[in-house]
Amino acid sequence: MNTNSTRAPFPGHPGAARRVSDLLPVFPWDKLEPYKATALAHPGGLCDFSVGTPVDPVPEVIQKALAAATDTPGYPTVWGPAELREAIAGWLHRRCGAEIGPQAVLPTVGSKELVAWLPTQLGLGPGDQVAYPRLAYPTYEVGARLCGAEPVEYDSVDELDGSRVRLLWVNSPSNPTGRVLGGDELRRAVAWAREHGALLVSDECYLELGWSAEPVSVLHPDVCGAGHEGLLAVHSLSKRSNLAGYRASFVAGDPVVVRELLEVRKHGGMIVPAPVQAATIAALSDDAHVAEQRERYAARRSALRAALEAYGFRVEHSQASLYLWVTQDRPCWETVAELAALGILVAPGDFYGPAGERFVRVAFTATDERVAAAVERLNAAR
Ligand SMILES: Cc1ncc(COP(=O)(O)O)c(C=O)c1O
Repeated sequence: MNTNSTRAPFPGHPGAARRVSDLLPVFPWDKLEPYKATALAHPGGLCDFSVGTPVDPVPEVIQKALAAATDTPGYPTVWGPAELREAIAGWLHRRCGAEIGPQAVLPTVGSKELVAWLPTQLGLGPGDQVAYPRLAYPTYEVGARLCGAEPVEYDSVDELDGSRVRLLWVNSPSNPTGRVLGGDELRRAVAWAREHGALLVSDECYLELGWSAEPVSVLHPDVCGAGHEGLLAVHSLSKRSNLAGYRASFVAGDPVVVRELLEVRKHGGMIVPAPVQAATIAALSDDAHVAEQRERYAARRSALRAALEAYGFRVEHSQASLYLWVTQDRPCWETVAELAALGILVAPGDFYGPAGERFVRVAFTATDERVAAAVERLNAAR
């Protein structure tokens, strides 16, 4: 007897009543694969500027802290030890000017998971809106979709429906454009969010990577006033400390919201591993490795920028972050193809929203040697 013919599909199998992956956008990186194959075939090899992933070593001071904490058989806590929360609050004070105590910070398992799950963890759902910049890191939309809320793009907060937006993302410096929001723009977003009771969440993972503008945290008293009510800032060590592999990050701000997240995340087991907690303390207590890494990126950025401009690209925004946002005033996929023929892989701007369709994003997260190779090819092809 064949009982399988009438059985409903297993959850997660195609045809199941509700598959979460069906709610999510198609992962666009597959579309880049043919161009990657072209670029890989270049006799000088691939110069990959398509992903913002660090390529330089994890600083020794951090590796040592991780290695010294390998004998940790017990469960770590979601909140982490007091030393970790003090290191986070200390860094926020030192680098962001935030007046914040260790009770208002929370370690997270890389900031991407927080971006994706924050709307769910705060109880948002159908009928609510999650708003994010028109050109943005795709995970803001994913977070809205995962909880059944409506994703909404904005250019200016004044366009938004204050009765429906429950969570407002800002991202300065921006991925993909490298744009930095000034104090006035941030203050306007804070005022709008507070007026409408929307939580403003500021993704600040590139804050220490300003080049021609000084990024400001939403937690700075010049931006938010005396308290952090209705505000969160999201930070990551992936970029500033070459720690993308460790999944080290944190969120900080409104102590009531942080406490609520702590409760939910305790039940969900969203715990940073103890060796990574120890590595985070070491990373946040040392500014020297950040200065050293910044110098590497500054040199790569100016070499690539000069070569791209000489080749005929116009650079927009790009005051900060790890990206150059460039255009030849034609469709992004034509530019992707042209550069792939030179063995250079970049990300098409439409990965970050239709508004990016005439731009490409060039991540200067490649070795000095690969950057030099790309510069040489761009100059030779002019
Ligand atoms: C704007 C933005 N937010 C968050 C992240 C996630 O970083 P991580 O999960 O490594 O902390 C990234 C990664 O590229 C990003 O560009």
